[in-house]
Amino acid sequence: MKRNIFITAFYFAIVFFVSSNFAFASASGHNLFKKYYCIDCHILGHEGGTVGPDLSNVGKTKSLSWIKAQIFHPGSHFTRGTKAEINGKIYLVRMPGFKTIPDSAVDRLAEYIKKFPSLMKNLNYKRPPEGMRLFEKDNCIACHRIDGIGAKVGPDLSHIGKTKSLSWIESQIVDPKVHFTYGVPATINGRTYLVIMPEFKNISASQLDTIAKYLKSLK
Ligand code: HEC
Ligand code: HEC
Repeated sequence: MKRNIFITAFYFAIVFFVSSNFAFASASGHNLFKKYYCIDCHILGHEGGTVGPDLSNVGKTKSLSWIKAQIFHPGSHFTRGTKAEINGKIYLVRMPGFKTIPDSAVDRLAEYIKKFPSLMKNLNYKRPPEGMRLFEKDNCIACHRIDGIGAKVGPDLSHIGKTKSLSWIESQIVDPKVHFTYGVPATINGRTYLVIMPEFKNISASQLDTIAKYLKSLK
């Protein structure tokens, strides 16, 4: 990681110039996490991709220098193209080495990841349940509300688990016509809806299971 001192100095001069104009906002840890595409493959907090492991707690077990090395040269920890087990899940090792990120940005990024667990704790941060995230991702939220968030095209699902069984909820998602006749009005909890819920036939078995169990948990 030897770098030409003049380039480093030049970089600092630019960072200082830029950040003094933008009140340091552009260099915050989370912005770097997005800027350098980490977020495409990793969750930190509640958003991000799942190609690589969730990094929300990696700071608890890995040192700052370990995290920096992972960013520059993942090959020093994992063998590319093989499978690695990380926190009980199997990943194909394919993280690119980010050799072109300036040292100071790597420092910031690694420090942010390292202290993220305590940041989360201080903010009393709770990750929303996976089912809730899928509920948004699969666009159920475009028609349904839970706890005041979402739309009113379909019924409010905030207490659906009180009256409906898990298997009832599952069949409603993959094949609503088992319960309701498409295109005609139906009265549900005292309100009338036009029956238009689409069939989610292509949903994977595990997604279906996660969403249905989440809805069943809403009492
Ligand atoms: C193309 C997807 C991808 C991108 C982009 C990516 N990673 Fe990774 N990352 C992975 C994968 C897959 C692993 C598992 C081991 C490996 O591939 O080296 C991993 C592993 C890690 C680990 C170790 C996690 C652990 O619990 O042991 C850290 C830390 C990490 N990445 C940080 C970052 C940071 C910071 C960035 C952005 C600069 C980033 N990653 C960008 C895919 C990615
Ligand atoms: C285009 C709007 C729309 C979308 C998208 C939609 N729904 Fe529905 N949903 C409805 C409507 C309207 C009803 C009323 C009955 C029907 O249409 O089958 C309903 C009924 C339900 C019910 C039964 C409610 C009750 O009280 O009986 C559940 C459970 C449900 N939807 C879950 C979901 C889930 C989970 C998703 C996402 C995977 C989803 N819905 C996506 C419109 C939608």
